[in-house]
Amino acid sequence: MSVRYDFDRIIERRGTSSLKWDSGVRLTGVEGLLPLWVADMDFEAPPEIRDPMARRLEHGIYGYSLEPESYFQAARQWIMRRHGWNVQRDWMLSSPGVVPCLSAAILAFTSPGDGIIIQPPVYHPFAMRITGNSRRVVENPLVLSGTRWEIDFDGLEKVIDAHTRMLVFCSPHNPVGRVWTHQELERLAEICVRKGVIIVSDEIHFDLVMPGFKHIPIASLSPQASEATVTLVAATKTFNLAGLGGSIAVVASPELRKRLDATQHAVFAGLANAFAATASEAAWREGESWVDQLLAYIEANYRFTVSFFEKRLPAVRVLPLEGTYLPLLDMRSLRLTDDALLDRLRHTGRVWLDEGRKFGRGGQGFQRLNLACPRAILSDGLERVARALSSPVPSVPRAE
Ligand SMILES: Cc1ncc(COP(=O)(O)O)c(C=O)c1O
Repeated sequence: MSVRYDFDRIIERRGTSSLKWDSGVRLTGVEGLLPLWVADMDFEAPPEIRDPMARRLEHGIYGYSLEPESYFQAARQWIMRRHGWNVQRDWMLSSPGVVPCLSAAILAFTSPGDGIIIQPPVYHPFAMRITGNSRRVVENPLVLSGTRWEIDFDGLEKVIDAHTRMLVFCSPHNPVGRVWTHQELERLAEICVRKGVIIVSDEIHFDLVMPGFKHIPIASLSPQASEATVTLVAATKTFNLAGLGGSIAVVASPELRKRLDATQHAVFAGLANAFAATASEAAWREGESWVDQLLAYIEANYRFTVSFFEKRLPAVRVLPLEGTYLPLLDMRSLRLTDDALLDRLRHTGRVWLDEGRKFGRGGQGFQRLNLACPRAILSDGLERVARALSSPVPSVPRAE
């Protein structure tokens, strides 16, 4: 009989320097917000992770650290077990995090002024890292077909020109919650391989997949896809270890790997801190049962949210969630501007979601909800959303 983890337990996070819970006034100027934003969970890591960390803490010396070989082996075994992808040890490079490694990839594979494709609405640091490193953002927006976001493959062919070197791909996709199908991945890989575009595939959400869906690493599709792809993975999103950092880049191509490795060494090297490898290795070795129970809890929270809005506020449509714990709420039929939505949520509801517009084109009129919290917190948050949006809608039409 396996251990049952208690995801209902509320743990006070205020006063722990938590970005999610302690930065409300600083970032929004509003007091008393219930935070259902940022991809950070309100669940404690299981004892399988905390015990080895406590032993590391007790040692008392926190000098420069190196990832042990066992860390990479644990990652390989996890990726094989959970995703059926046989990653060679020498394909792996260590990084302090997915976003730092993305910055290194931008520097390694492109030159100032080059075009880098993103498919908005998408995790906003992609665009920030591209422009911050003096590259051009080339948008190939996703298309909303009914309630399902899809890749515009014809658009993708069209935006690629001689100066388009890279696609930053999000798989599963934050914030639209898609787990891309084999067919979609094959088509995307075929276009990028044919056009000589390097795929940097951010798969940090790879373990967070709802029942009935399967994450497929794009690099696992074919030798050609593998040669063209840099895959970024981590234990930090799955196990809520983001404050510790640590990620792995899987790069099969010796040429790309050499360039990424050299750039990483030029700008940074290795893990974020002395606890990162201990925590992630323990997670990959011992965390399987915790993740399975976490996913069941998130799915139940998702169903709770869908039925809440069906009953209480049917004008808000909860989009399907195939992966991540971050469904989009479609509020467009309320016909409020994004500013008016924000004002109501923050000032009337005192609830903090992520605004869809933050994720770029196509995000207007949506809000992203974080389901990874105890049911009681979620329920409080949904009540606040309902309070914010149930009052009569003013006559200001939202801009299309
Ligand atoms: C798609 C995506 N990539 C990367 C990150 C952050 O990665 P890291 O903390 O390793 O830089 C997040 C966090 O929300 C994310 O959603």
